[in-house]
Order: sequence, then C-alpha cells, then structure tokens
Amino acid sequence: MSIEENEERIISSKPHVEDQQEGSLRPQLLNEFIGQGKLKKNLSVYLEAAKMRQESIEHLMFYGPPGLGKTTLANIIAREMNVNIKITSGPAIDRAGDLAAILTNLEVGDVLFIDEIHRLNRNVEEVLYSAMEDFELDIVIGKGPAARSIRLDISQFTLVGATTRIGSLSAPLRDRFGIIERLEFYEARELQSIIMRAADILTMSIEQDAALQVAKRSRGTPRIANRLLKRVRDWAQVNEISVVTPQNVGSILSELGVDDIGLDDMDRLYLDILIRKFRGGPVGIETISASISEESGTIEDVVEPYLLQCGFIERTPRGRVATHLAYSHLGLAKPEVISMQSLLFDT
Ligand SMILES: Nc1ncnc2c1ncn2[C@@H]1O[C@H](COP(=O)(O)OP(=O)(O)O)[C@@H](O)[C@H]1O
Ligand SMILES: [Mg+2]
Repeated sequence: MSIEENEERIISSKPHVEDQQEGSLRPQLLNEFIGQGKLKKNLSVYLEAAKMRQESIEHLMFYGPPGLGKTTLANIIAREMNVNIKITSGPAIDRAGDLAAILTNLEVGDVLFIDEIHRLNRNVEEVLYSAMEDFELDIVIGKGPAARSIRLDISQFTLVGATTRIGSLSAPLRDRFGIIERLEFYEARELQSIIMRAADILTMSIEQDAALQVAKRSRGTPRIANRLLKRVRDWAQVNEISVVTPQNVGSILSELGVDDIGLDDMDRLYLDILIRKFRGGPVGIETISASISEESGTIEDVVEPYLLQCGFIERTPRGRVATHLAYSHLGLAKPEVISMQSLLFDT
C-alpha cells in the first residue's frame, strides 16, 4: 500500500482534510468530555485549585496516540480558566525568534498550546526553558563581538504540550512540566456515548446498538468514531434511511474495508507481512517499514499502538512478534514450536 493511499485511510487516527470541521464536535467544557475518567478527575482538581488561588495552572503535557483528545483538552483548559489560547506546533516554529515573538505577546494566564512538541528544534527548545521556569527570555541581539544578550520578562502563562511520542522528548523539557498525563484508548461504551452526542450535533438518528457497532470499529479513538459516523450519515442519506440500524452499520463499514474490530487493509497488510514473510517475527521495525513501503514513524504512531492494544503484536528487544491472537484473527494457524528433542529423536 502506498503512502498516498494510507493518507486516505478511513481509520487513520491522524486528522484528514474533511476533519477540519472537527471544531463543531469538540466538547467545550470538561464535563462534556467523555471518558478518560482518571485524567479528567485529576484535571478538575488542578483547575479548581488554580482558580481558588487565582493563579494560572501549571505547565502540562498530554501524550498518547493521535485522535484521543489532546487538542480538545488544551482548548477546554483555556475555556475553563477563562483565558486566551494560542495554538502552534513544534514543526511550525522555525527559529528561536519566532517563539520569542509568540511568548512576548501572551497575556497573564494565557495558554500556549504546542502540538507535536517533540518536534521543536533544539535552539527553539532552549528558549522555552527559562520561559517556562522563570517567565523570562534570554535573547541574543546582533552577531559576533557586538552581540549582547538581553533579558525580557514575559507574562505568567501556561504551556500545554502534546505529543504522540513522550520518549522522543528531551529530559530537560519533560522535567519542566508540572503535570504529565497520558491519554488511553477509549472503551467501546465511551465511544458509543461520544457517537450518540456527535449524531445529535449532526442531526442524524442512529440506534444505540448501531452506535455501539460504530464504536467497536473505531479503534478506541474518538476521531475515527466521528469520521466513521459521518460516512454512515452520508450512506443513510443517499439510501434514504431515517434511523440507522446495526445492520446498516455492518454493511457500510465492511464496504469501506473496516472489519468488525476496526482493522483495515493497512493493519492486515502489516500482520500479513509479519506472519507470512517473517514467520511471525521477531523482525525489526525498519524491515517491516521497507516491506510495506511506509515510514517507520507512521507505523509506530498510527498502526502499532492499536495492534498492541488488541494484543496482536508484541514489541521485544529483538523486534516485533505476532501473537496467537493475530493468527486467529486472520484465520491462520500458528505454527507449533518444534522442540529440539522431537527433531533429534524423531518421536
Ligand atoms: N472525550 C471526548 N469526547 C468527545 N469527543 C472527543 C473526545 N476526545 C476527542 N473527541 C473528538 O475527537 C476529535 C479529535 O480529538 P483531538 O483533541 O483533535 O485529538 P488529538 O489532539 O489527541 O489528536 C475531536 O474533534 C473531538 O471532537
Ligand atoms: Mg491534536
């Protein structure tokens, strides 16, 4: 499968162009945010405490696979604290000066959201250190012998970082976050509620059981749930169906190549290569990446987390290994491990 096709994967958890109206489906307040119970509870304590002290909330970091609600939570924090939010991303900030410009324009209490914060370049990142710690900027003006460094005060702000790869974050940056929270994949019941809420906003009718069917195929990810729901809505409209049933969901999603647990062609290709070409592994990520012509980063961020969650693969020091669950999902028999003894003694 080519990269182009992959970008169109309906179950890709990365945003599609069509997801740009995601805004309307985004919960605005913490109590509208469904699931992530533990995180939500922690967050409401931090928010409450900060409000009582009339201070801004500590710098915080959300990490976890795409589409689970990191951006949504950053927006919720700003709204709950009644402050402005400035949104940017690691790769969008080229130079230290760009970041300095953003920081000096913040007002007291504002939230600065940096998405994909693991992709900040080093020079830019270093500017953040004193900004986060002391709300000060050290800027070098001029070049060569005439260069001098000046110190600027900036407003007390809250940095909210998001990353799909906490492991790629440098230790000094990670240590400057007071709060680090991980987002988990959602339970089918939680996704069902998210889907019912979205259906309401999209003014479509769908049976509870049908919503559960969509939920089960959404790989634990609200972004995918919403996208599948929109496809179901289009289909219902064309076929003049007023209330969507579980049967409807089954046929439309199978047509789209999404199986009953949400795997698509890309996932099946991955498993197929791992099992047939590499006898179930262990095999290195780079080798898999070359075999399916997909970037290893994409595979690690988008394909593997859900396969790991399903228990279909394991990451070992020697590489990826397919589990018996993967074999049975694909309807294949896992080869028995032949013992040395039976080989030697031909029993
Ligand atoms: N807990 C939730 N409840 C309802 N909708 C959610 C929830 N989390 C995410 N969503 C929906 O999923 C979409 C993707 O969420 P987003 O915050 O952009 O994910 P991330 O930033 O982690 O990639 C949003 O448009 C939002 O509508
Ligand atoms: Mg996001």
